Amino acid sequence: MCGIVAYIGPKEAYPVVLKGLKRLEYRGYDSSGVALLNNGLKVYKKKGKVADLEESLVGKDVHAHIGIGHTRWATHGEPSDRNAHPHTSSNGKMAMIHNGIIENYSQLKNELLKKGYVFESDTDTEVLLKFIEDIQLNNECGLEEAVRIALKRVVGAYVIVLIDQDHPDTLIAARKGSPLVIGIGKGEHFLASDATPIIEYTKEVVYVNDYELAIIRPGELVLKNLGNEKITPFVQKLDLELAAIEKSGYDHFMLKEIFEQPQTIFDCLRGRLDANAGAITMAGVQNNIDQLKNASRIIIVACGTSWHAGLLAEYIFEELCRIPVEVEYASEFRYRNPVVHKGDVIIAVSQSGETADTLVAIEKAKEQGALIFGVVNAVGSSIARVSNAGAYTHAGPEIGVASTKAFTAQLVVLTLIALKVAHEKKTIDTSRFMHLLSELHEIPEKVELTLRSAPKVKALAEKYRDARDFLYLGRGYNFPIALEGALKLKEISYIHAEGYPAAEMKHGPIALVDEHLPVVFVATRDSYHEKIVSNIQEIKARKGKVIAVISEGDENISRMADDTIEVPEADELVAPILSVVPLQLLAYYIGVAKDLDVDKPRNLAKSVTVE
Ligand code: AGP
Ligand code: GLU
Repeated sequence: MCGIVAYIGPKEAYPVVLKGLKRLEYRGYDSSGVALLNNGLKVYKKKGKVADLEESLVGKDVHAHIGIGHTRWATHGEPSDRNAHPHTSSNGKMAMIHNGIIENYSQLKNELLKKGYVFESDTDTEVLLKFIEDIQLNNECGLEEAVRIALKRVVGAYVIVLIDQDHPDTLIAARKGSPLVIGIGKGEHFLASDATPIIEYTKEVVYVNDYELAIIRPGELVLKNLGNEKITPFVQKLDLELAAIEKSGYDHFMLKEIFEQPQTIFDCLRGRLDANAGAITMAGVQNNIDQLKNASRIIIVACGTSWHAGLLAEYIFEELCRIPVEVEYASEFRYRNPVVHKGDVIIAVSQSGETADTLVAIEKAKEQGALIFGVVNAVGSSIARVSNAGAYTHAGPEIGVASTKAFTAQLVVLTLIALKVAHEKKTIDTSRFMHLLSELHEIPEKVELTLRSAPKVKALAEKYRDARDFLYLGRGYNFPIALEGALKLKEISYIHAEGYPAAEMKHGPIALVDEHLPVVFVATRDSYHEKIVSNIQEIKARKGKVIAVISEGDENISRMADDTIEVPEADELVAPILSVVPLQLLAYYIGVAKDLDVDKPRNLAKSVTVE
């Protein structure tokens, strides 16, 4: 959660930091602030979006060559000017930004209160800064040493970046559990939560690891561990273009990302799938094929949309590989002392690769000897690095807070893995294997065709925008899609929506049905088709409004439903990759119709790096 940016070098720091904050705003956007060093420390902060901060700074003195900035997603203390970062030390000389949570902050705060420290905010961040300040005073040590001592006592997750007016040429940063990238330019350095603020200046980056401290001066980067030993920075080349993180003419990132899906799915299949030769090339799978094939169990851990991809993967793995699969919310799994054996394979699914719950869950499972296989979008992210093996989803940067293209890429990668393992394990016969490969091969084109329904979905959005609740129903492979459709609507339009297995509906939610309730059926042709047709009739009999996502030419459901959206015919195993697309569009257009900020829905953040 939260985005942090910092700059040190010959450029004006403020424009670099401000632009970086705008790029990182998807990570958190309840307040923001900057601190600049130039003949003393200047701190400006404001509740609201980065644009509000920018507006409040027009005409102010922002000249400096060293600066830090933060866009917040509050954990401790409501969003307000005073809780916004950067926070300042009691002597007013130091400023600090922080991403994460200091779990033992109240104990530290009590100690500091007894010593007479006064707190201006409700944040855990200010406590850490004043704790560092106190150590500096008591031990008569420099800031670097004080940070090191403080971090040894801190419980929690953090990236912190500090500046000190007594050392106007130095930035100090440290990380544990939250992400930090350092860009190396000519005589200058850029720090950020991810690479997006950095790429237009340099492609040379260093990903800071847990328990590392970076001491940065204009032309110099020193990395140390908490034991004060130097570490040689591992400089990597970024494989990311600026165009990938811009809107390219679309009104919103979410819409751009929905429309990018034919390309992102194609990218995800490229070099992996050869439908004619009947081959899947995935080094991460091949190198661990024995463990995957012989897994006693696969446990998929993820959160949110990635969890929905995991749920669908459960159906696919069990069907194709005949391996028992469990799908776990990472936040539950990490705390409930789960049974994990050496022969288990853990698949961690994550777009950002930084979700704190997923990261800790896999670290724990790794300690118990399981193989950790990451299905991650963000290259070089923490989950990718902790995993023993993996396959990237190659969907490119996803900026819209609601996950869309990352989800379909996850489905594609998970299906490829399942197919490859099933083929090696011989739990799938050759003709079915070949058929599914060619079905996957056709998916990018079919998504392209599905996107043609956008104008129709937009009209439906106008029709149903004022509904108070929605129900989303699906069976089998389409059940996780019903869950995902409901989540998208909740996130983007703030309309309450529930996803349910269509048959389970009569065990409770059917009581909600009346003439005001829109019920979205994900009802493409599959082995359960007749069953879901009966479920549609059950809703119609109770006067519910039925919107059905159907396979093209399904006259039967067309006659029953109030509204339909057609998707191309596809094998039931891959059809969900198509049927989710109209649901993404429906959420998007309802959000737009209600004039909501679809790229930055309230209370959310793209990357949940706190528990
Ligand atoms: C998706 O629309 C959500 N914003 C959210 O549920 C997300 O999928 C979840 O936080 C997991 O994130 P990750 O894939 O980056 O781990
Ligand atoms: N815990 C800090 C706060 O509440 C930082 C949260 C964040 O990562 O944005 O201010």
